[in-house]
Parts: sequence; C-alpha cells; structure tokens
Amino acid sequence: MKKLTAVILGAGSRGRLIYGPYAEKFPNELQIVAVAEPNEERRNQFAAVHNIAPEHVYSTWEPVFEQGRIADVMIISTLDRLHYVPAMKAMELGYHVLLEKPMSPSKDECVELEQASHEFKRLLVVSHVLRYSPFWSGIKKWIEAGELGNIATIQLTENVGYEHMTHSYVRGNWRKSEETSPMILAKSCHDLDIISWLMDQPCTHVSSYGSLLHFRSENAPEGSTDRCINGCEVEKECAFSALKMYMQPPEHPWARYMHINDLSQESILKALEEGPFGRCVYRCDNNVVDHQVVNMEFENGANASFIMSGLTQSGSRRVQIMGTQGEIIGDMDKGSYTLYRYVTGEKVEIDCNVAGDGHGGGDERMISSFLRDVRNFEKNPSKGLTSATASLQSHLMAFAAEQSRLNSGQSIKLADMITKRKVEV
Ligand SMILES: NC(=O)c1ccc[n+]([C@@H]2O[C@H](COP(=O)([O-])OP(=O)(O)OC[C@H]3O[C@@H](n4cnc5c(N)ncnc54)[C@H](O)[C@@H]3O)[C@@H](O)[C@H]2O)c1
Repeated sequence: MKKLTAVILGAGSRGRLIYGPYAEKFPNELQIVAVAEPNEERRNQFAAVHNIAPEHVYSTWEPVFEQGRIADVMIISTLDRLHYVPAMKAMELGYHVLLEKPMSPSKDECVELEQASHEFKRLLVVSHVLRYSPFWSGIKKWIEAGELGNIATIQLTENVGYEHMTHSYVRGNWRKSEETSPMILAKSCHDLDIISWLMDQPCTHVSSYGSLLHFRSENAPEGSTDRCINGCEVEKECAFSALKMYMQPPEHPWARYMHINDLSQESILKALEEGPFGRCVYRCDNNVVDHQVVNMEFENGANASFIMSGLTQSGSRRVQIMGTQGEIIGDMDKGSYTLYRYVTGEKVEIDCNVAGDGHGGGDERMISSFLRDVRNFEKNPSKGLTSATASLQSHLMAFAAEQSRLNSGQSIKLADMITKRKVEV
C-alpha cells in the first residue's frame, strides 16, 4: 500500500483529535508533512507529534501555497469561512482535498467548489462522516438490497443534547451564523446529507421553521450573572452551569474542547473566568436556532421530515424509514436498528455499536476511504461513498431550509437554488 503524504490546515479539534491521531495510528497509510495553525502551542505540539520539518510548519494557511504542491493530499480543518479559498487553491495546485463540512457558508461558493473538483479533476471529499458509520452504511445496504421496497417517508430526529448545544452553539464557535454558519449547515448538513443519500432521489422542495427559543437574555433567571463562577446565585440549580459541564474529572470530556492543553482544576477555572465557555448561556452573543424542523419533498413523491433540537438530554439520532415492503427504525446512539419485513412479518435486529469511535465509527472509516480513493484515483476515479456533487446537493437542501425558515416557512424549489456557476481562483 502506498503511504500518502498530507498537509493539514487548522490543527484545532478536528485536526488535532481526528486527523492527527489517524496518521499516528496508521503510519503506513498517512504521514502529515506540513501544518498551518496560528495557535503557537497547538502548532508546535502538532509539529512535534508528527515530526514535521520546521520549514513546513506555518502560522497561517496562505504561505503553504507559495511552495507549490508539497504532498499528495490536503486536509482542510479550519473553521467554516476558511474552507473555500484554500480548497479552490488546493485543487488548482493538484491536491486531492478532504474538506471539513460545511463546504462553505455561501451557496455560490459550494457550487464553485463542486464545479472546480470536476474542472481540475481532483477528489473533493466533504467530511460527511455519518455515511461511513456502520449504522448508516448498514441501513443503506438494506435499502439498496430492496428490503424496504420504495421509500415513502423518512423521519429523522437529531437530538443535539443540551451540553453540545451550549458548548458549540451558545458559548462556542458556531453560536453566530454570520461568523461561521447557520445551525442547519453547521450541524444538520450531516442529517440532510443522510436523508438525501438514503432517499437516492433529487429533492425538489423544502420548507422549514425554527428559532432561538431558550438561550436568550430574557430567559436569564433572577440572581444569575454574566459568568457562572462570578457569584451566580442560581448556579447550583442551573442545568447549563459551566462549572458542572467543564469540571468533570478525571476525563473532563467537555474541557478537552476548550482548547486548553492543561486540564488541571486551576487551568479550567482560569478558562471559565476569562474565556467564552464560562459565560452564562442566557448572556452570550449567540443567534443560531436551538430547534428547527425541515420538510422535504422528492422527485418521485416521497417525503422526509427532520427535527433538530438542542433541548434534549443527550446527543443521538433516531430514524424511521417507511417503505412499501418494509420499515427500519433505529437509534444511532444505541448503535442498533430493526428491519421489519411486511410480507413475512419478520423482524431483524441489528446491533452495530462502535462505542468510543468518533461519529459512530464514521471518522476513521471516512479517512481510510478517502485515502483509498486517492490511491486508486488514476485507475478508478471517485468510487467512494460520497462525492462533491452529492455534498453539493445536500448543502443546497440546507440553504433552501434556511431560506425558508427566514421567510416564514415558505416552500423553496431546489431547482431555483443554483444561480451561478463559475470558477475563479
Ligand atoms: N465532520 C464533522 O463531523 C465535524 C465535526 C466538528 C467540526 N467540523 C468542522 O471542522 C471544522 C473545524 O472545526 P474544529 O472543531 O476543529 O474547530 P477549531 O476551532 O477547534 O479548529 C479550527 C482551527 O483552525 C485554526 N485556524 C484559524 N485561522 C487559521 C489560518 N489562517 N490558517 C490555518 N489555521 C487556522 C484555528 O486556530 C483552529 O485551531 C469546522 O468547519 C467544523 O464545522 C466537522
């Protein structure tokens, strides 16, 4: 097997905790030879772990492109608004690209990225990790085998979980749609992608409702303060207390994502005193929705409905797929689903729990699939579980949902979503 080399832009949570560890675990498949990361501590640590030559350690992504092409692939794990330009430049230089979702918060940029992948004849794989998990890829296989007949309806619920909601979408990176992306793109583009993939039909119409219901200043309890640790009188009885959330020794599951290397009590308390994650959830500068529903119609008359809620006790996805010959009901968190066959009355229980693996086992499998596709590209271009074209389709569904939500649930025709197709690098 040929070992591939990679440049990584952005050594944050995804870069450092997903892509970096893959290269460490499978050194015969992937070697990271360059990194761009502005945060000095993260950058140096990443460079040391991967033994990257000093001349290929950069404090920002731009100079990486002055070197010409220095590796086989580029992994882009910067924040949402820093995807488009590097991805375009990378494909122009001849890199195959593994791009974090969303492709871009701009619809036109998503269209251009997809087009560029064809024009430059490069793989552009968007990190729709769920497709690769045994849960969703298993369901897809039953559908392809005809077990459900024709799908009439899919109902998918994404329980974000109040902890994830407050960490990422109230206090954290994705709290303001104008800085990163609206929730339907930032979080739920995965779900619309899964619906689009399982349905295997063009989506024709989308409508959506949703709002920021709870995490607003008018809901701040009396006695609360700007920060949970600054004498808040109601901290003990608040479900969203930063102290409860981040002080969970010994693992500190959420503090790991505060971008502090030192997980001692003193260091976490300092971050809660000074940083964004110590803020009261009712007094942040957030504007993304905490609940949203989306209805979708497909070309053959099938339909789907999706619910996202940040007001749930834990993070999980639940799905019901209703077909003419059978039905599947599943819970991704439990890693299990049941196939019901109408003709025989049989019930097949599937357990594909991969506890501990990121995104139900999807992270590692996606990277492995991307590398395999790159190795086979010359002989057999683009045979993976997804493509830039498939990702564009599900991103357009997300843009349509957001447009509908902002226009009182107006039905949006997908065919009207593509207005511009041009490539300028
Ligand atoms: N596929 C998934 O399931 C999944 C899950 C989480 C996040 N994401 C996506 O991954 C991306 C990164 O998310 P994250 O959680 O790692 O965020 P993060 O903030 O932890 O990491 C982003 C990193 O980019 C770095 N950066 C900023 N400016 C830069 C520049 N000029 N050049 C190079 N690097 C720069 C930051 O310093 C930071 O370390 C986002 O687009 C996010 O939506 C995808």
